Amino acid sequence: MQFEELVDELARRMTDSSFISGTISQSRTKSDEVKRVKVKPIELKGHLHLQFEYQFERILQHENVPASEVHGKLSELLERYKQVHAEFADEKIHVQLSKKFKVMWKSDQIHSKKVVDLSHNRKKQYLLDDTTPYPFLIRLGVQSPDGKVKKQKYDKFRQINRFIEFIDDSLTHLPKDRTIRILDFGSGKSYLTFALYHYLRIEKGLDINVTGLDLKKEVIEECRQIAQDLNYDNLEFLVGDINDYNEETAVDMVVTLHACDVATDMALARAVRWGARVILSVPCCQHELFGQIQSPELQVLLKHGLIKERFSALATDSIRAELLSLVGYESQLLEFIDMEHTPKNILIRAYRTEKRHSTETIQQYKAFRDMLGAKPFLEKELLQSNHLFLSE
Ligand SMILES: C[S@@+](CC[C@H](N)C(=O)[O-])C[C@H]1O[C@@H](n2cnc3c(N)ncnc32)[C@H](O)[C@@H]1O
Repeated sequence: MQFEELVDELARRMTDSSFISGTISQSRTKSDEVKRVKVKPIELKGHLHLQFEYQFERILQHENVPASEVHGKLSELLERYKQVHAEFADEKIHVQLSKKFKVMWKSDQIHSKKVVDLSHNRKKQYLLDDTTPYPFLIRLGVQSPDGKVKKQKYDKFRQINRFIEFIDDSLTHLPKDRTIRILDFGSGKSYLTFALYHYLRIEKGLDINVTGLDLKKEVIEECRQIAQDLNYDNLEFLVGDINDYNEETAVDMVVTLHACDVATDMALARAVRWGARVILSVPCCQHELFGQIQSPELQVLLKHGLIKERFSALATDSIRAELLSLVGYESQLLEFIDMEHTPKNILIRAYRTEKRHSTETIQQYKAFRDMLGAKPFLEKELLQSNHLFLSE
């Protein structure tokens, strides 16, 4: 395919009804201030436009281009950038341009068709927006006093926003007639704890009581000081080990963000014990299974250290999700942040239900576990607390 044909093809495809979104990146000049350009279709006054979002180091700028002018705009951008990713209802494409504008085109079919939503601002960019100054984000060093998100903190800002979206989606599962009890385990500097407090208490006016728990004394003291200075009532920070934290009888929501290795399992086990209605957990450093997995059937895969590490992490999270479903949760593994921003991109979401699991699901779980030779920490915890029964 020639360069001109590429522009024709992209302009045609991006202005038909199957286009979902795209990213144009890899500037040919290092000094280019626009690092990447995101593209999505929108409808303005009944007419299709493409919205180009120019991502500078600190700010975003938007330009809405009518369908008739998209060809010219793409031609201009593809002179400047070497890479295009685009997603359509039934296909993902990846284009790489060489120094001499040689086109490499790769495409993958998508089997579950997506629906294209054209309403302008179909989703608010962020629940916490990146120009409003938030006192807690300023105190935590994420924003400067004028509300600008600091460059080195943008990933964290993105993560907490995404997490808040999941919290927002889960609100229908939480009680409406009493205080909502929320625990953040392994809260660390507590970006998430403060953000969820701000969103639920200050923006939504909900009656909540939040605790952040972490091993690090100095960090927790700093969080306490910030909460006190900002007059955040019903928000406390405790120093302690998740595994020794047995203070609660009932909790409504348990969250974890990057609680290391089995600290995630400790949190999940407690959430189940306390009957939490909502569990949202983004794991990290899933090392447990790496040291356990042994399987002649998987030897082709396991002999590569890198693959073994990734596979162990994926198997750990699959086992976690399965165990949660075996104890009555509707559990899903969802994309947290896209891979471009962090490899720690899986979120475990579990809503408590009254569902009973079938004997078949127990057998499937055991077969998978035994094939790997895994002895999952979470399984032991759930068996011990009499929430899990595997002998059916
Ligand atoms: C990678 S940090 C993440 C902190 C925070 N959630 C965030 O996303 O910014 C992991 C935190 O988990 C805490 N942690 C690990 N194991 C723990 C345990 N057993 N009990 C309490 N906290 C723990 C660590 O002290 C650390 O602050």
